[in-house]
This record gives sequence, C-alpha cells and structure tokens, in this order.
Amino acid sequence: MDKMHKEILFPRDVIARRVQEIASQISDDYNGRELIVIGILKGAFIFMADLIRALSIPCKVDFVRVASYGAGSESSGKAVLTKDIETSIKGRDILIVEDIIDTGVTLTYLVNWLKERNPQSLKVCAFLDKRKRRKISFEADYVGFTIDDGFVVGYGLDFNEQARFLPEVYIIKQ
Ligand code: IMP
Ligand code: MG
Repeated sequence: MDKMHKEILFPRDVIARRVQEIASQISDDYNGRELIVIGILKGAFIFMADLIRALSIPCKVDFVRVASYGAGSESSGKAVLTKDIETSIKGRDILIVEDIIDTGVTLTYLVNWLKERNPQSLKVCAFLDKRKRRKISFEADYVGFTIDDGFVVGYGLDFNEQARFLPEVYIIKQ
C-alpha cells in the first residue's frame, strides 16, 4: 500500500474553508430549527464531524451503513443497508451526509428508504460529487466539490480500507 501513487487534490486549508461555507449555508437554511444529521458509514464520518462542529444550529446525529462496493473501486451497482438508524425521524428535518456521490445508487436507495418514515424534510449533503459517473440521476442539495472521474482517498474516503485517516484528499494515480 505504501506503493499507492497519489497526488494531492484538496489540501487541508481548502477543505476547511469549503466545509465552513457549506455549514454556514446549512445554518442559514435551517435557522431556528434542529436537524437530525445522518452520516453514511464509514466514509462520511470525518466530513460529518467537521461539518456539524461548524454549524450554528443544534443537531442530533445518527448513522447508517450502506454497502455498495465490493473490495476495490468498482460499484456492485446494488446497495444493501447493513446498519439502520436508531432515531425516529418522523416529522423531523433530516440531512444525509455522504462522502462522495458516484453512480447515485447508494443515495437513491437511502433517500427512498428514509422517506418511508415520513420525515418533514430530507436533504443531502455530499463532500464530493463525481457528476459524470451517474448511472441514476441524483442531485445533492449541498456539495463540497465536484470532481472528474478518478478514484480519490483521504478525509474519510478509502481504497480497500486504506488511507481514510489522511487529512487531505488525494487522487490515485495508476
Ligand atoms: P454510488 O452508490 O456509486 O454513488 O457510490 C457511492 C459510494 O462509493 C461512496 O459512498 C463511496 O463509499 C464509494 N466511492 C465512490 N467513489 C469513490 C472514490 O473515488 N473514493 C472512495 N470511495 C468512493
Ligand atoms: Mg460510502
């Protein structure tokens, strides 16, 4: 794994600034309300931790785990929920937090799953968005950065469980 060739895509200060901007926008949009923030494990946990600490509105947190990738970097094209939320979301304002949108399979599945529990509102915040790779059309409400094709790691994102802990975002080079 030390042989993983990678180049920096977003350094720490650029990430930190963008996270603050998104958090301000979310705080304005939900002014006077309390959010339930639902993170998708594992990739979203670092972004979510930074995001909620930059909000100026109160929130509660919960997590789901949705598996769609096997080992490696190709989506299986099918999402499976392997851990559900433990909070009642009926009548509440929900913000799903995801690390990256690729084909759109994971979020389409999760949004449909959560909507069945009748939240008052449901929005999606994704740190990264690979728009050109969609297999199902899906629009997030808040996006950190839009990127081109390519596999990225760091800031919570992994390649075969490696490199999540890196504070910057890197693009893997062949
Ligand atoms: P989707 O269901 O195809 O939209 O895939 C979304 C999931 O694939 C994300 O939650 C990530 O876990 C994973 N993923 C997609 N692209 C990347 C990447 O470039 N780096 C790390 N994980 C990725
Ligand atoms: Mg993920």
